[in-house]
Amino acid sequence: MAIRELGIILHGATGRIASTQHLANALAPIIAEGGLDVGNGETVMPKLILAGRDEAKLADIARTHNVENWTTDLDTALADPAYPVFFDAAATHLRLDLLHRAIDAGKHIYTEKPVAPCIKDGLAILSAGQAKGLKLGAVEDKIHSPGYRKMKTLVDDGFFGRVVNFRLDFGWWVFDGLERQANRPSWNYQKSGGGGMFSDMYAHWRYVVETMMGPMRRITAAGWTAQPKRGGEASEKFDVDVEDSCSVIVELESGAFGTITSSWAQRVIGDDLVSFQIDGTGGSAQAGMRRCRAQAAKDTPNIRGFNLGGDSATLDYKIDHAADWQEIPEAGPYLNLYRAGWEQFLRHVATDAPLKSDYAAGIRDVQFAEACLQSSATGAWVSMAPLA
Ligand SMILES: NC(=O)c1ccc[n+]([C@@H]2O[C@H](COP(=O)([O-])OP(=O)(O)OC[C@H]3O[C@@H](n4cnc5c(N)ncnc54)[C@H](O)[C@@H]3O)[C@@H](O)[C@H]2O)c1
Repeated sequence: MAIRELGIILHGATGRIASTQHLANALAPIIAEGGLDVGNGETVMPKLILAGRDEAKLADIARTHNVENWTTDLDTALADPAYPVFFDAAATHLRLDLLHRAIDAGKHIYTEKPVAPCIKDGLAILSAGQAKGLKLGAVEDKIHSPGYRKMKTLVDDGFFGRVVNFRLDFGWWVFDGLERQANRPSWNYQKSGGGGMFSDMYAHWRYVVETMMGPMRRITAAGWTAQPKRGGEASEKFDVDVEDSCSVIVELESGAFGTITSSWAQRVIGDDLVSFQIDGTGGSAQAGMRRCRAQAAKDTPNIRGFNLGGDSATLDYKIDHAADWQEIPEAGPYLNLYRAGWEQFLRHVATDAPLKSDYAAGIRDVQFAEACLQSSATGAWVSMAPLA
């Protein structure tokens, strides 16, 4: 099988998501396994150059993953034709400028979310890339999780019948960095760093919801700040000027409604950080990142309401509602979520295979986040009509 080397600039390589998910869990294993069979008699072998600001950290990560090349000089890397792909997972507020520079240099683009600060900027990137015949992809990792893949098998089998209702709830407690060290980078809580729950997580919830149930028609949203003071990496105190908690109502084109709630100020109970439930006339399913359980219409028990009879203090404790749900069988083999995205993008670059998570999909993710911010500011319903 012919080996085709594909040069990739991995920018923001020292960051949390780039060094762990994109490098350690995706690209390094692909390289260690001898490249990716792209199905046309070719194996694509990624050839990486790690790009960032901190020489010592870059050298350390490069050593750990047997990557020969790293640089703090992005312009020189962009000018090097040996690297036709630019990947960005640096801090969000840098993205727009970086993607424009990469497109000017004629690079194909793969980028973390959010793919742009706003729709207008995203469309400008898209048309600049298309004008040069470049390929542009967006990271949409959550849809590759085992739980959602199992849920998608139910969607494809027509299990739900007519969807009537859905709800998605996500979050965990992020320490404020004052009383206890924060467990997420501080830029997530500052407008100047591109932070905020809407652009962070609703970018994900857009493709999760639309993959399962089709297009959104309109939304209304509220976002608020549960933890107004936080401490940064150097223990400096700052005012949080973005939402860290949100509640959104979505109306789908199908006419069904649902809610999406997310918070960095809620504590976890249950077996997952996220719970996504779809209710339909044919049955319901509830998925986290790992599991998916379902209850068909024919198996739905006759719930007797609150049933606060004589023995009101204990009666409901004896009912195990989860026992009436069926575990959905595994839909694997599974890949690391980020590796699944990389494999699709590499196939797209090498063979023109269709890419669902392309840059336009990333812009639709931004559209949802933007609609949420707009609605949260005005209190109005905001259209999610497709962009021209
Ligand atoms: N797909 C997902 O689920 C997911 C999860 C987490 C983060 N992300 C995205 O990945 C990106 C990085 O997030 P992270 O959590 O890894 O953050 P991080 O703070 O750990 O990493 C940010 C990186 O950007 C670099 N950087 C910051 N300022 C810079 C500058 N001025 N010049 C050059 N480099 C600079 C930092 O050195 C670091 O390498 C964000 O855009 C975020 O939205 C996506």
